[in-house]
Amino acid sequence: MKTIVIVISGRGSNMEAIVRAAIPGVRIAAVVSNRPQAKGLAFAAEHGIATAVVDHTAYADRETFDAALAEVIDSHSPDLVVLAGFMRVLSEGFVRRYEGRLLNIHPSLLPSFPGLHTHRRALEAGVRIHGATVHFVTPALDCGPVVIQAAVPVLDDDDEERLAARVLAAEHRIYPQAVRWFVEGRIRVVGNRVEVLGAAQAAAALIVPALESAS
Ligand code: GRF
Repeated sequence: MKTIVIVISGRGSNMEAIVRAAIPGVRIAAVVSNRPQAKGLAFAAEHGIATAVVDHTAYADRETFDAALAEVIDSHSPDLVVLAGFMRVLSEGFVRRYEGRLLNIHPSLLPSFPGLHTHRRALEAGVRIHGATVHFVTPALDCGPVVIQAAVPVLDDDDEERLAARVLAAEHRIYPQAVRWFVEGRIRVVGNRVEVLGAAQAAAALIVPALESAS
């Protein structure tokens, strides 16, 4: 049995997708939020998962907040820490502590559009393909080895909201998949590249076709 801790800041729909996936061999020990109002906390509690809040506004600086967060996480001795809509930049010390067992999901096809407002920026840039990336977290923001990506088309009548919804639906497909591979011990990181053992070459790329997206 592998133990995971999921860290959120808000809605928690990716956390929900991972919980609903009921991945064999996974115990979700806790859902931790840096915001007391995070909607996802209620879903976790309703599903019998321990919840905790480490409110970043109560800490003087990033390092002391990160230390408090790490203390809560470590009390569960997780094999894997999953950042799911966690909206804080983490200190290098925190990232190093969980090196190789800290995943994040980012709503763009990295390395395009790191940072915030990815859907707006994709529309402004006029790209025809957008998407989401699950990656290992390294000290540089939105930069770590890529586990799986989902590509969705950008349609002519898209606005930020429509595009975000299409990407989010794809996120809910790839994040549970990445967690499943991790707990099955099938992920090997070689430099900045991830090998998924036993998976078909194309398995780590989900392409959502235009017709499926438009319907
Ligand atoms: C997702 O789009 C995720 O990629 C980004 O923030 C959003 C969080 O959504 N990091 P949710 O809280 O999982 O619903």
